[in-house]
Amino acid sequence: MKRTLITSALPYANGPVHIGHLAGVYVPADIYARYLRLKGEEVMFIGGSDEHGVPITIKAREEGVTPQDIVDRYHKIIKDSFEELGISFDIYGRTTSKTHHKNAANFFRTLYDKGEFIEKTSEQLYDPEAGEFLADRYVVGTCPHCGKDGAYGDQCEACGSSLSPSELINPKSRLSGSTPVLKETSHWYLPLDKWEPKLREWILENHKEWRPNVYGQCKSWLDMGLQPRAVSRDLKWGIPVPVEGAEGKVLYVWFDAPIGYISNTIDATPEWEKWWKDPETRMIHFIGKDNIVFHCIVFPAMLLAHGGYNLPENVPANEFLNLEDDKISTSRNWAVWLHEYLRELPGKQDVLRYVLTANAPETKDNNFTWRDFQARNNNELVAILGNFINRATVLVHKYYGGMVPTPGNFLEADKAMIEEVRETIKSLSENLDNFKFREGLKDAMNVARIGNKYLADTEPWKLIKTDPERTATILNLALQLCANLAVIFEPFTPFTAAKLAEQLGIKELKWDLTGKFDIIPDGIEIAKPELLFEKIEDSVVDFQINKLEEIKKHNQLNAWKPSPVKETVEFPAFEKMDIRVGKVLECEKVPKADKLLKFKIDDGMGGRTIVSGIAKFYAPEDLLGKEVCFIANFAPRKLKGVESQGMILSAEDADGRLVVISPSGPVRPGASVG
Ligand code: 2FM
Ligand code: ZN
Repeated sequence: MKRTLITSALPYANGPVHIGHLAGVYVPADIYARYLRLKGEEVMFIGGSDEHGVPITIKAREEGVTPQDIVDRYHKIIKDSFEELGISFDIYGRTTSKTHHKNAANFFRTLYDKGEFIEKTSEQLYDPEAGEFLADRYVVGTCPHCGKDGAYGDQCEACGSSLSPSELINPKSRLSGSTPVLKETSHWYLPLDKWEPKLREWILENHKEWRPNVYGQCKSWLDMGLQPRAVSRDLKWGIPVPVEGAEGKVLYVWFDAPIGYISNTIDATPEWEKWWKDPETRMIHFIGKDNIVFHCIVFPAMLLAHGGYNLPENVPANEFLNLEDDKISTSRNWAVWLHEYLRELPGKQDVLRYVLTANAPETKDNNFTWRDFQARNNNELVAILGNFINRATVLVHKYYGGMVPTPGNFLEADKAMIEEVRETIKSLSENLDNFKFREGLKDAMNVARIGNKYLADTEPWKLIKTDPERTATILNLALQLCANLAVIFEPFTPFTAAKLAEQLGIKELKWDLTGKFDIIPDGIEIAKPELLFEKIEDSVVDFQINKLEEIKKHNQLNAWKPSPVKETVEFPAFEKMDIRVGKVLECEKVPKADKLLKFKIDDGMGGRTIVSGIAKFYAPEDLLGKEVCFIANFAPRKLKGVESQGMILSAEDADGRLVVISPSGPVRPGASVG
């Protein structure tokens, strides 16, 4: 193959990107692009914002701005933050561009003119007051599964069920609040069933090497039997359907978005066709698992229907990344947002890239925690990689004033070390060739480990006194090892690799496929060592963890609802309850019962003992002297051997903590509450 076209899913421009997007798509895509470039291969790496679709129009409506305002805002945030993270797109375009509108419309028109669509009429939900058809998201109602209000026509966020708008109980339009009605409308459908035999053969026969999660999802779609899919929608925001009489209809966002990869290539180079049509080009789609069907079935069917285009060679889709053991969620703000990370941890791009790769959800969902982030930085980047490079370069400065020493004869230990490095880099290459970035990163770190072991075994700091010639060989080899590290870490941690290359006087990093070990000529001078990584202190990650805790609290408060009111009771039933005010005279913990506190209460009637299960929320001294409400005619009962003569009343706050009820002004002990 001559060249590789790498695409990365176009993120929706209705919010910033978070670590889940990065780990799933952009970091692996960038590692792959950088790796191929280092090998001297021709690469085109395509990115861009997906700027159509209903969620963008909903956000615009909520904020009282136009959809264009929304996509302008987020396109900039996303583009800038990707750039700052070192994602090396050859182009980062947008689907509101002129090129894309024209290209997507032409694509549709070609299929239309070839008779590749079928036109079908169906009944869709319609808002009679607003005079608009309603996308599923524009309908809300009660969830038939969990009974919560506010479920959307496509999904209930409370219980996670997938829904269709017709399942909602008491559906309402989000546009006007009116009840939607069914109305006939006609749309264009791409008959995926027509392409099923070709897709079966292409994926199931010829791409058995695809990741099992991708292959498996494709197989189950194909086995279920493909159906025609609508490629247009009744909406105002999008690319108008380029057919007469199609007013008010736009291309479905999932029809136009993948064409965006082509449009962005057109904007990147006048030679765009060679990237899409030349069989000598291989195309790789980097995506998250929720995009598999669109990239492996729908888009290929579109390309086949059009004719003349290559199909992807591989689609290395990742699973999902969780954050602190909880699903990342934009609506719950449960995420680490890239633009915030860059602001709060400046200069730490490579640490994030490293941790997200080390934890990449390649074969199963994975978890990001701030403690792991800190540990990987301190125990791996600082203690293994940074430490080796620092030791080697500091010794060269100390003994040779920074001049690269000339090596003498190699001993067995040297040859073995070189061989081990070669083998490890070979394994690294194979892993990257097979999209196993996690394993590849382990190999890269193992090269640094080999370096540390080599220095520990050869002890040049001792030898310098007795055998300067041997020391020169060891330190030359250690520096060559540093240079190899600069090359192999470039795809993973490009900022560090660039710094290291500069320090070592390497003008251009190259992935040498011959396994050549020596990169730096002897006799040149290397720059003063600079620490490549620094330890991350507890306070830094504590700040991030606290931030997430605040978000969790806020979400709990937002999600809190009072429990349903109990069955109606008549006054006499209430009157039977004797609720009184009492003053706390004494309070102590009940031995061997971590939940219980024992109170001595002045009840105006000679006093009583009450045991209450609130020890988790109050220290004994907290309530001393306070007035509390209690049920005075509760049948006495024994708790951990203590007789309790009543029950102290409390309410539960949003965190599930009990708060004792007190009168708002002074009341005499024994006063009745009613
Ligand atoms: O899931 C998403 O975020 C989509 N915006 C991905 C689109 S990928 C491609 F088709 F553009
Ligand atoms: Zn529900």
